[in-house]
Amino acid sequence: MAKEHLAPVWSRAFDIEVDHGEGAYLVDVTGRRYLDFTCGIGVTNTGHAHPRVVRAIQAQAARLIHGQIGTVTARSVLELTDELLTVCPPSIDTFFFSNSGAEAVEAAVKLAKQATGRTNIITFEGSFHGRTHLTMAMTQSKTSYRARYQPLPSGIFVAPYAHCYHCPVAQRTLSATERAALSASCPHDEGRCCGYALERLHWLLKTQTAPEETAAIVVEPVLGEGGYVVPPASFLRELRAICDEHGILLIFDEVQTGFGRTGAFFALEHFGVVPDILVMAKGLASGMPLSCVASRRELMQKWQPGSHGGTYGPNVISAAAAAETIRVMKEERLPENAAARGAQLMYGLRQLQREFPAIGDVRGIGLMVATEFVDAEGRPDKAATQRVVRACAERNLLLLTCGSYENVVRWIPPLVVTAEQIDEALNIFAAALDQVF
Ligand SMILES: Cc1ncc(COP(=O)(O)O)c(C=O)c1O
Repeated sequence: MAKEHLAPVWSRAFDIEVDHGEGAYLVDVTGRRYLDFTCGIGVTNTGHAHPRVVRAIQAQAARLIHGQIGTVTARSVLELTDELLTVCPPSIDTFFFSNSGAEAVEAAVKLAKQATGRTNIITFEGSFHGRTHLTMAMTQSKTSYRARYQPLPSGIFVAPYAHCYHCPVAQRTLSATERAALSASCPHDEGRCCGYALERLHWLLKTQTAPEETAAIVVEPVLGEGGYVVPPASFLRELRAICDEHGILLIFDEVQTGFGRTGAFFALEHFGVVPDILVMAKGLASGMPLSCVASRRELMQKWQPGSHGGTYGPNVISAAAAAETIRVMKEERLPENAAARGAQLMYGLRQLQREFPAIGDVRGIGLMVATEFVDAEGRPDKAATQRVVRACAERNLLLLTCGSYENVVRWIPPLVVTAEQIDEALNIFAAALDQVF
């Protein structure tokens, strides 16, 4: 068994040969246990191998492994749509399934184009939507995702994301501490957002893509790969208003923010904004490959039958895992636990921020939390961030980074994480900070 036969294109955060996972832990082939605060990049929200999800997978596998939806309709798929109806906003009542997040984002854009008869899409700086050609073109979080793949599909226009810590207006007028405080108050910004990002968006609609040729605005309600940024609520509410005024469809990419991650079933609940199209993946099926485009029936009816589809979506085992995932989340109140443990984590990180000025910003919502590292001049410090992540891994805590400068440590523990495990992680992080600084 030699690792050199795996394609090197996969960048690898750690060199760990994993044997199995249990709840918040990964166990390697030597028996070493790691507290896994990466969750397979925000996927295993119910923890590794939740016994109820495992049983649902086993039971479905014994009955049927593949039931192609163009041919038959499997019961697990209908069970899943029943469960989704209980957690989606009431207007969202019709579902299309595929396998990965990128596939679902592409599908949402295809739906928007057919439903509106328009060609163009607006996305945001810092966004990540996937690695297919269309979703690469929609991705602005790092050039490494796009470099040497150009030219990419056209018709994609990019506006700034509302990011109080990095906002150019706030950078001119506020100190770093004031910006961190503003960023921490999001989404409840109470009218303190300067409106820079929205001003640029209005300008984009005047100068680059006219509203009548714009099919959709696609946005992550909390920015993921781009740095775990919670925007002011006014930002998303104004996007809704712009879309309503011009007949543009609002698409929320909740691939990373969905399924309890932010302390609500979907992040949209924090902002009081309902999109026209909701995209889900990652936490949906606890690690089985499944993604979903959800919308209202009237809009889905404009999607020409046969003009989109696929062999595998929805895999019937993934559907069974997803239906049980939703039941587990409701019964074990996992979004509520995410909110409580997230508050505990952010409190602990803010205490550490006082001791270590290299932590420029602590921000987040629920269990989608970021610590951004800066040098003495306030510039992004990627090298220090990497040293901190390595020092944590040496102490058996796994963390990933994100952000355009790769200077953000992201905290994405499973939603089953306990108060003791959060304390354990904070203690390890404190020891790592002591070592690095
Ligand atoms: C917000 C968002 N959208 C889309 C994707 C792409 O998902 P996938 O890797 O399953 O294609 C990701 C993956 O990280 C994501 O975070």
